[in-house]
Amino acid sequence: MAGADPVPAPPYAEGTGLPWDLPVSDAVATIAAARARCGDTFAVHSGADRYLFTFSPAGVESFYALPEESASKGVADYLMLRRKLPDDIFAGRRTLPSTLFRRDDVAGYLANLDRALDQTDLESAGTVDVFDLMRQLGHRMGLASWAGPGCCDGADFERLVRAFDTLDGADAFVHPDRMAEVAATDKRAERAALDEVADIVAAAVRRFDAGDTDNQALFGRIVDAWSTEQQDDRLRGIALDVALIHVASMSNLAAALGWALVDLLEHPAELARIRGGGAGVADFAQRCALESTRLAQRSIMTRAVLSPVRLDTGEVTYQVPPGWTIATLLPLLNTSAAPGLERWDPDRWNRHRLIEQHTLASPMLVTAFGHGRHSCPAQPFSLSAITAATTALLRDYQMTPRWTSHPQPVPAQIGGVARARGPCLVDYVSA
Ligand code: HEM
Repeated sequence: MAGADPVPAPPYAEGTGLPWDLPVSDAVATIAAARARCGDTFAVHSGADRYLFTFSPAGVESFYALPEESASKGVADYLMLRRKLPDDIFAGRRTLPSTLFRRDDVAGYLANLDRALDQTDLESAGTVDVFDLMRQLGHRMGLASWAGPGCCDGADFERLVRAFDTLDGADAFVHPDRMAEVAATDKRAERAALDEVADIVAAAVRRFDAGDTDNQALFGRIVDAWSTEQQDDRLRGIALDVALIHVASMSNLAAALGWALVDLLEHPAELARIRGGGAGVADFAQRCALESTRLAQRSIMTRAVLSPVRLDTGEVTYQVPPGWTIATLLPLLNTSAAPGLERWDPDRWNRHRLIEQHTLASPMLVTAFGHGRHSCPAQPFSLSAITAATTALLRDYQMTPRWTSHPQPVPAQIGGVARARGPCLVDYVSA
């Protein structure tokens, strides 16, 4: 809730609301229309919330430079996710998702991804939804990596998948229009799902205590962090650390895996290059993954103002008071900040950088994994995982898409990597 307004007063996008508060047919198109009317920097009043959106080159650079102490990404994420997730999951966490990506950890996750690829539900021939397949892979790899012994197969795996699909924090931005319903039920389903996760992880802790510790490096760290607590608090604390980590991993990775496969299936020459293998193919596959992620970005990037901050947008410098949220929206920049960006072209990347940065008014106008201090700590891991999964699936199966035009995102979505609006079926046969 905001009291004062920014100084000077920014243009106000009258009648514009965000999908948590107002029915909108397309969340991204709504902000695009406000920008067309008001210019690159404007205010939106949505329910009790006050947003200052910026899209100018200087404004976006100032956005990424905002200090966490006075314009917080952590608080903004919390305010978004608490629409869906029970409060318990945030309180007192000891192992945070940002600490998961040490070099040794990543090697372990990639080994678990290999095992998950061996365990997919794919037969020698059949039909599968690309995004369902990738979500299953993400669950199996993630739960093997951090949920404790016995959590990545059999009945416990199936129960965890059902619970996490109910708990999924990404619903807060993928289906913002459903959050009023979640509030009206006092998050009953989500709280029950969290209790279910806690039960299953508690059983994994007991197995770990009894000596089942092989390949459990990260889980061991989570367990250690709770070693001084008495048993009930210890079991609950470990389980909620695991739950928050897994929920964080579900936000973007499975969806990005899906778009990488969709785009390759739509580009036969690049697909053939990847299937052919050979020198440089892993590097090429990473560029394909980065390009698909850029195009599929639907992220709203937000910073919650905690104490007054200055936002220099080029023409005007605003003093923004506490209570406001400063925001930008990647899909309005990623595909239009320079001519040609609407096309899928993996060769526009050299490692993690755009080759033709000089055609942009600022290099910060385009991104897949963010810029500056909050950029994604999981980028190298995610790109390696997407590369490994797409390469293995395309090598082992001949896949024929059933869609006839490029799949469309969920229209109300305003955050994260796009989810597909409808089924994306492929017919496959073992190669
Ligand atoms: C393809 C997959 C992914 C994409 C496209 C992606 C994208 C992003 C982006 C754009 C940001 C910056 C947000 C901002 O500045 O407001 C970010 C930050 C972050 N991501 Fe990812 N992400 C991916 C996978 C993951 C995974 C698997 C995890 C692990 C659980 C993860 C954990 C984080 C964390 C903890 C931050 C916050 C870093 C900070 O505030 O310092 N991400 N991600």
